[in-house]
Amino acid sequence: MKEEIAKIESEAKEALEKVDSTQALNDIKIKYLGKKSELSNLLKEMGKLPKEERPVIGSLVNEVRKKIEEAILEKEKFFAKKDLEEKLEKERIDITLPSTKIKRGSKHPVNRVIEEIEDLFVSMGYTVETGPELETDKFCFELLNLPQGHPARDMQDSFYITDEYLLRTQTSAVQARTMLANEEKSPIRMICPGKTYRREDDATHSHQFTQAEGLVIDKNISLADLKGTLEIFAKKIIGENTKIRFRPSYFPFTEPSYEVDISCFKCGGKGCNICKQTGWIEVLGSGMVHPNVLRMCGYDPDKYSGFAFGLGLERIAMFKYGIPDMRYLYANDVRFLSQFER
Ligand code: DAH
Repeated sequence: MKEEIAKIESEAKEALEKVDSTQALNDIKIKYLGKKSELSNLLKEMGKLPKEERPVIGSLVNEVRKKIEEAILEKEKFFAKKDLEEKLEKERIDITLPSTKIKRGSKHPVNRVIEEIEDLFVSMGYTVETGPELETDKFCFELLNLPQGHPARDMQDSFYITDEYLLRTQTSAVQARTMLANEEKSPIRMICPGKTYRREDDATHSHQFTQAEGLVIDKNISLADLKGTLEIFAKKIIGENTKIRFRPSYFPFTEPSYEVDISCFKCGGKGCNICKQTGWIEVLGSGMVHPNVLRMCGYDPDKYSGFAFGLGLERIAMFKYGIPDMRYLYANDVRFLSQFER
């Protein structure tokens, strides 16, 4: 038996000297140390030996086993190091290589205007409200003093989805929503920028455009408050020297109603091609909230009054950034958009 053990030892030694891969090393490990290895078998057969030989052979087997184990461990360490080195070499990255340029987007001019208007009005204590683009006839028209069949409905060509639902033609719908949602019927100061839709499509109109609505409801609100507010709006958003002018107009939801012009940002009022030689540019509709609207939305017109205004934001963006054609705002041409880098 001693010879057998010595043979196993020398075979294992030889195999370990030649081993050249982790896989082969594993095979050796199984072959010489596994449950079915020759050494294990020898231990199982010890019972057949004379009693006095058993401890001698037993300790010899264990000694050899230990030697093989140690030799294998040694090799394992060697291969682990080698594998790691190979991997590091193969996966080496050149950190001096320039990285691929990631294109940064820029803020769309209309979004810039929205953010500026929000900042301005929030600084004056207004909240920013939202409402659905798919709106009901009730909020878009009826509660705004435009009952079914009212001739002023023709002022806005609408996209009706069903008899009841349409794509909102004006953010004014959010006025009614905000007033109705306010259960305490407390004062309101809100603006609502958002998308609006009309059946129009020509050089100066798009079927989808952006409006911002403003609404203030409180006790003793007068036209002077509207004027003061719009003056601040014009100076802060268009330019410090901007003047405003009120022209009587008609909107079903306000009485009296006004169209508001700003002095031409280009010629300052002298007259040029932008303002069609008039010195003035029309920018928004406004007025004092009609008592019918207040009443329908739960406010007592004898106690409360308010003003409202609504403006198209594409036009404001065009003035501010000197954009000559509204269609640029919708084409999403990166050559155009990239001019508005952050
Ligand atoms: N909603 C109107 C439009 O789309 C604009 C407007 C006019 C809004 C007067 C108002 C207002 O709040 O008081 O043409």
